[in-house]
Amino acid sequence: MQETTLRGHYRIIQNLARGGFSETYLAKDIDLPGNPYCVVKLLKPMFMQHPQAWETAARLFEREAQVLYRLGNHDQIPRLLAHFEENQEFYLVQEYIAGNVLSKEFASGQKWTQKQAIAFLQDVLKILEFVHQENVIHRDIKPANLIRRHLDQKIVLIDFGAVKEITNVMENSQGVTRIGTHGFMPSEQENGNTQFNSDIFALGMTCIQGLTGVALGSLPRNPDIIWNQQDVNPQFAAILAKMVRHDYRQRFQSVGEVLLALDKLEASINQQKWWQNPKAIASAALLSAVVLLPIAWRVVNSPKNEIIQSSRNTSRKITASSFELYENPDYNIKINYPQSWHKNDIGDKTTGELARFSLPTNSSSPIELILETQHFTKPVTLDELTGLRVNEITQFFTDAKIHESYATKLQNTPHTSAHVVVYSGKDDTVSVKRKAVWLVKNNQAYIITYSAPEVDYDTYLNTADTIINSWQLH
Ligand SMILES: Nc1ncnc2c1ncn2[C@@H]1O[C@H](COP(=O)(O)OP(=O)(O)OP(=O)(O)O)[C@@H](O)[C@H]1O
Ligand SMILES: [Mg+2]
Repeated sequence: MQETTLRGHYRIIQNLARGGFSETYLAKDIDLPGNPYCVVKLLKPMFMQHPQAWETAARLFEREAQVLYRLGNHDQIPRLLAHFEENQEFYLVQEYIAGNVLSKEFASGQKWTQKQAIAFLQDVLKILEFVHQENVIHRDIKPANLIRRHLDQKIVLIDFGAVKEITNVMENSQGVTRIGTHGFMPSEQENGNTQFNSDIFALGMTCIQGLTGVALGSLPRNPDIIWNQQDVNPQFAAILAKMVRHDYRQRFQSVGEVLLALDKLEASINQQKWWQNPKAIASAALLSAVVLLPIAWRVVNSPKNEIIQSSRNTSRKITASSFELYENPDYNIKINYPQSWHKNDIGDKTTGELARFSLPTNSSSPIELILETQHFTKPVTLDELTGLRVNEITQFFTDAKIHESYATKLQNTPHTSAHVVVYSGKDDTVSVKRKAVWLVKNNQAYIITYSAPEVDYDTYLNTADTIINSWQLH
């Protein structure tokens, strides 16, 4: 094929890969200024002696080319530049991506750090979010089909599996298409029942390989235990484990769910960092000396202040005047929080986290209330929501223990039932205890969680309850 020029445009330069039913070449477009590189992929369907099979293949080729053309609108998927048929063979011409496939990166023997692995997942999940929205399942995610682009080190996703259907139309006409790569392919896909989250499995396996350096053949079917717990945050290990669950019903159901779990993980890592990093503590101390002291002076001298009492085990006396109002007009939420607490207005529509109210302390883990919402595509009941949340707690929280779980009514939302779960577990190394209260209105869930180191939980419970009970939702 070397020296060939296809359609008078694409001069073949060298062979990149040769598989059973396809060949991939590096080429140059000699009709464009500067003769840019492109990639020519030749698909060689089987059973071409059957005219009917030929027609099916041609139809599938046309359909898949249209899909690839649409997907190429994403910056991290190669653009389809042309597609044509010549001598009963099908050609796809794609944008060339300068970079290295991850299989090459892995071959160097270097393992990813947790931070690199998280960044990798977030990068690819965002591409997959787009792909799945377009109703396409990639079906062959693996290191050889992910290129790290030299330009910006971002990952580009290549080699969409569906297009390979045309090379085995005969098998396809009997209703089974097995496209994918053993080791990265989940069992439901092997059984011809490919799901959107089959891609999540393959991506999880790829990530595990990047983290552990363990080659694909040696990965066990359910590799929950293969990574070194010391190197990987247990919450991250739990996310990876949930990505590669054998049973697809127990896996993350959508890319959005994985992204949300990763956001939460990052938030908790960042929080920990703040407490653990001596430099940050030093600069925070300096900052508080310079900025906060004058404010504290005013607070201490204010007649309204009745809430700051530092000794433990005293029940706090709180008057209405010592509270501030937090209001979120987007969700029609109002809540009162103590003046002495710090409000962090987050309002993140993607993660659903609206605000955090925290007591400035230097305890091992923050004393805070977190207000979140969760959007569902269809209405959910309070019981369904409770099932989901409890599942999340027990899966993502190390040593999770549920102490109480009961239905209740909040003072200011008397017409809506709420559910309370009190639980404890390990947040990294710190034992924390939490009280989460949630309620649901149609497609929208609202959750408020009081969290404190286990030793401080009882001390601030009264205050937390007061905040929770002030919650208004219209
Ligand atoms: N758009 C591209 N830009 C740069 N390199 C590419 C591009 N597409 C493919 N390659 C290179 O060619 C190799 C093979 O391409 P591709 O993954 O599409 O085919 P394949 O895996 O051989 O085919 P198949 O799995 O369909 O039989 C890739 O691993 C990558 O190194
Ligand atoms: Mg490939």
